Amino acid sequence: MPPQPFTTIAWDDGVVLLDQTKLPDEEVYLRVTTVEDLVAAIQRLSIRGAPAIGVAGGYGVALAARQFPPDRDRTAFLAAVATIRAARPTAVNLALRVDEVLSDVEAGSGPAAEEALKAANDIRAAELASSVGMGERGYYAVLDLCDGGPVTAMTICNTGGLASVERGTALAVIQTLHERGQLAEALALETRPLLQGARLTAWELQRMGAPFRLLVDSAGPFLLHQQMADVVLIGADRIAANGDTANKIGSFALALGARAAGIPFIVVAPESTVDLDTASGPEIEIEDRGVGEVVSVHGMRIAPDDAGAVNPAFDVTPAELISVIVTDRRVVHVHRGEAIDRVSALDPADIE
Ligand code: MRU
Repeated sequence: MPPQPFTTIAWDDGVVLLDQTKLPDEEVYLRVTTVEDLVAAIQRLSIRGAPAIGVAGGYGVALAARQFPPDRDRTAFLAAVATIRAARPTAVNLALRVDEVLSDVEAGSGPAAEEALKAANDIRAAELASSVGMGERGYYAVLDLCDGGPVTAMTICNTGGLASVERGTALAVIQTLHERGQLAEALALETRPLLQGARLTAWELQRMGAPFRLLVDSAGPFLLHQQMADVVLIGADRIAANGDTANKIGSFALALGARAAGIPFIVVAPESTVDLDTASGPEIEIEDRGVGEVVSVHGMRIAPDDAGAVNPAFDVTPAELISVIVTDRRVVHVHRGEAIDRVSALDPADIE
């Protein structure tokens, strides 16, 4: 029997989340009804991945409007919205979606909570549609750059339905390749310290029946150099105007490995992750998640007491190491000198 579909995030009298800290062992859903609990869920990564935390942020504005009705106390409402917006700094989707829903609330004539919920539901639907678009465009981009399939695709972190609404970004491309008989194997990096690759990507690949193996993170660049993969596919948390791309820590090492091996390196992200207000990579704030995640695994200490740690959750891959950026609406051939900030690169015929 095929596995039951899962719901990453939805609204049902509160924000309903599949708690990703419990996967792959338990499928536990949380109903979050306060701003404080939503911020905590985002920060502990119960809900994670750039598009998914954008959707969570949108629903968060609805929670804020319910908890602090702006017609009674606008200051308290805006303060609550600001805490959601700042819950995690690197993925632009969170701030973007909070701002979008807030501006719909301010422009709308109905009760704030209803206006916010409608806008957030629209965002959820848009992310779902854009995952299908990325899968489709990415599929052709991979076959084009690899001179056909089936291909072995290396990936990092989790960029599937768990990071979005359904299907996801880079993993949507891998899923589309698999569905069309063009995936030889997925090679998924475990993604220390929080193991999104081992816990979440492996769970999703298994559910879709795709062939895959896991790697420790440090094996990635070496195996690329050994020509074990035909392509690297990653997601993004923020793409700057010059194409520099922030994504899970370890992505930059894969880009260097792919360049050394002459293998295409593809970034897959919705247009909502492209941030033209950020000129280039050094302007992107990188979240440091502190010592605890590094010195222990699943609560078990692996380092001497009082060891310090540096824990950047993301890195930035310079645009010159990226072959193409695939969005839901376009494929930008960075390796041919095309720029992500040329909005005119959007072909109107391509816009669904
Ligand atoms: O810290 P996380 O798990 O939220 O990091 C997620 C990633 O880095 C993903 O690759 C990125 O958000 C793109 S996923 C659609």
